[in-house]
Amino acid sequence: MSDVVQFDLFGEVEQKLQERTRQRAQEATRPRPTTAAQRRKRKTFPGDPHRHAVEVAENVIAAWFSHYGGNRMDVPIGTIAALSFFREPLVADWLLTLELAQLPQLLREIWGTQWLSRPDLIEVARPLHDWVEEDPDEHQLRAVQAVIHTAIYNGLFDLTADDDPYERSEADVLSPLLTGLRHKSDKKWRGEYHTPASVSDLMAEILIRDTTHGLTIREPALGSGGMFRSVAQALRDRGLNPHDYTWLGNDIDRLATACAAVNAIVWDLGPKTAIWCANSLATEDAGLSEALAQRTAVIQHRNAVVEQALFERKARRLLGALDQLLEGAAA
Ligand SMILES: C[S@@+](CC[C@H](N)C(=O)[O-])C[C@H]1O[C@@H](n2cnc3c(N)ncnc32)[C@H](O)[C@@H]1O
Repeated sequence: MSDVVQFDLFGEVEQKLQERTRQRAQEATRPRPTTAAQRRKRKTFPGDPHRHAVEVAENVIAAWFSHYGGNRMDVPIGTIAALSFFREPLVADWLLTLELAQLPQLLREIWGTQWLSRPDLIEVARPLHDWVEEDPDEHQLRAVQAVIHTAIYNGLFDLTADDDPYERSEADVLSPLLTGLRHKSDKKWRGEYHTPASVSDLMAEILIRDTTHGLTIREPALGSGGMFRSVAQALRDRGLNPHDYTWLGNDIDRLATACAAVNAIVWDLGPKTAIWCANSLATEDAGLSEALAQRTAVIQHRNAVVEQALFERKARRLLGALDQLLEGAAA
């Protein structure tokens, strides 16, 4: 799989994103209208990251239902997924000040900026962000706000916002969120349990014991990607870089696949990652060739959008310069 995601034009986009994060972090250091009681409630969680992830998920689920969020699992999971893209824990203070009406724009911006850098994975994660475009009503936004506040007070950013990919790959918050919501919302549901991290960590150790550089890791029943997380950490423990490996994973469930796509970004698996939704038993290659073709098309589309935007900006600059020249000549 060619490394088509790393795209030169993105130096500029990346720089803008970083500037924006810095600005927001600076804004966040100013006094905020959060109360002392709210600040005290925010804790730090130095303990076991897996238990911490479960705790975040359980509290988020409780907040969602106590605010009458209903059976739309995509909304709370999509909200937590969006928050997990922040790489600046200080942004928490700013997020807590946002009004209900600001939340859809915030979420659109988060998913939009992620689309610029990883359109392939953000397209697969569509089941987690399509709802933002459906103009959520006030009632739903109240539940979304409760989810955001609960996640922050329960230390979500301790798990997901670290600059170091190793630190933010210590646990999977989306897995207990997905399985927990499923058990509560969908009575007919078959019962989804993801492999406990201790087991997948052990399996990863065995898998990569004799690993050769550039191996392909293939997961045909991906869940939210727990096995990928364990293998990535085992590689990092050996001083190896997950970016040098190819990660191919699919799941029959759209929401699980979407969670895995988000996790692939949070855990920084790298540019040679393809995740797609397909039944592994339906075709010989479990939909791999179709998924790779779609991935290439999405990346080409993104490239065309960015090129067009840069072209338009250059044209506007040239027209501005021409205007000034003409004004100068007329004076
Ligand atoms: C027990 S979970 C394991 C998830 C993950 N591998 C882990 O270790 O945590 C099983 C997963 O397999 C998926 N699955 C079941 N049948 C499948 C099929 N025919 N094709 C692809 N995925 C399937 C389910 O949707 C579920 O997410």
